[in-house]
Amino acid sequence: MNILVTGGRGQLGCSINKIAANHPQHNFIFTDMPEADITNHDCMAQLIVENKVNVLINCAAYTAVDKAEDEEELARKINADGAAELGEVCKEHKVKLVHISTDYVFDGTTIDPINERVKTNPQSTYGRTKLAGEQHIKESGADAVIVRTAWLYSEFGNNFVKTMLRLAETRDELGVVADQYGTPTYAPDLAEAIMKLIDKGFRGFKIYHYSNEGETSWWEFADTIFQLAGKAITVKPLTTDQYPAKAHRPAFSVLDKSKIKEAGVFVPEWEDSLRVCLKELNALAQQD
Ligand SMILES: NC(=O)c1ccc[n+]([C@@H]2O[C@H](COP(=O)([O-])OP(=O)(O)OC[C@H]3O[C@@H](n4cnc5c(N)ncnc54)[C@H](OP(=O)(O)O)[C@@H]3O)[C@@H](O)[C@H]2O)c1
Repeated sequence: MNILVTGGRGQLGCSINKIAANHPQHNFIFTDMPEADITNHDCMAQLIVENKVNVLINCAAYTAVDKAEDEEELARKINADGAAELGEVCKEHKVKLVHISTDYVFDGTTIDPINERVKTNPQSTYGRTKLAGEQHIKESGADAVIVRTAWLYSEFGNNFVKTMLRLAETRDELGVVADQYGTPTYAPDLAEAIMKLIDKGFRGFKIYHYSNEGETSWWEFADTIFQLAGKAITVKPLTTDQYPAKAHRPAFSVLDKSKIKEAGVFVPEWEDSLRVCLKELNALAQQD
């Protein structure tokens, strides 16, 4: 199949590129701004026709969660209007669409792992624009799968793991929020999950939840990164009130993966995937 990846130079896009060699039966076309703007219908239609695209994986998004509180128009244009354009263009050209969404569509007030039937109630501009994107895709009538994920990290782009390792170079003590719970997601694992869903085939509209397995807090996540990376740094637990941010974060966003596991997707434990990522980062550092 010809698979077009939008937002291909972002963290998930690079992770799909990394695992593409595991799927030699497919031809991947990686695109990003400015040549492939998801908000530009004609541009996307042209790319689909020229490349005889069968499946489009949309990794493009506005992901600056705090900045979105001041840039609502831009966040909405990319996350909501861009998703709407992709839904329409995929419907028109009979292309199957895989779109990525977020745990931020929930309010984070539940205590059990969140399944796909839990009512959405976003508490931030980013979350509201991502939910609007989901709804537009559903309304488009395209064959579409939405995968909601959380706490994404990898060796690519900017993310929590890389930030922690950078801070460990100059600090011997750090405060990290300990009262927000969730599960990290290693982006190459999510990339493999997406490929499994594509290979299985899908019709109509479906939502799946995917993160790695287990449950942790940002504080424990940071502490584990430092332990596994052999960094001597003290991590002090903070409350959300002690670490104010512009955008509201869910206090609990552990996703229930039962549905995606029933579809045949394997979900690694978060500590195991963190070890893999640290090994990859180490190998990259040796190359420099
Ligand atoms: N990161 C997380 O922790 C997290 C958590 C849950 C869900 N998600 C979701 O997972 C998906 C992938 O996230 P990510 O971390 O890979 O994001 P990312 O690293 O920020 O990558 C997004 C990519 O989209 C590009 N882009 C922005 N506007 C575009 C447009 N109009 N047309 C085409 N491309 C455009 C960006 O280019 P520029 O850099 O030039 O803007 C960037 O290359 C997103 O849907 C995100 O909402 C992420």
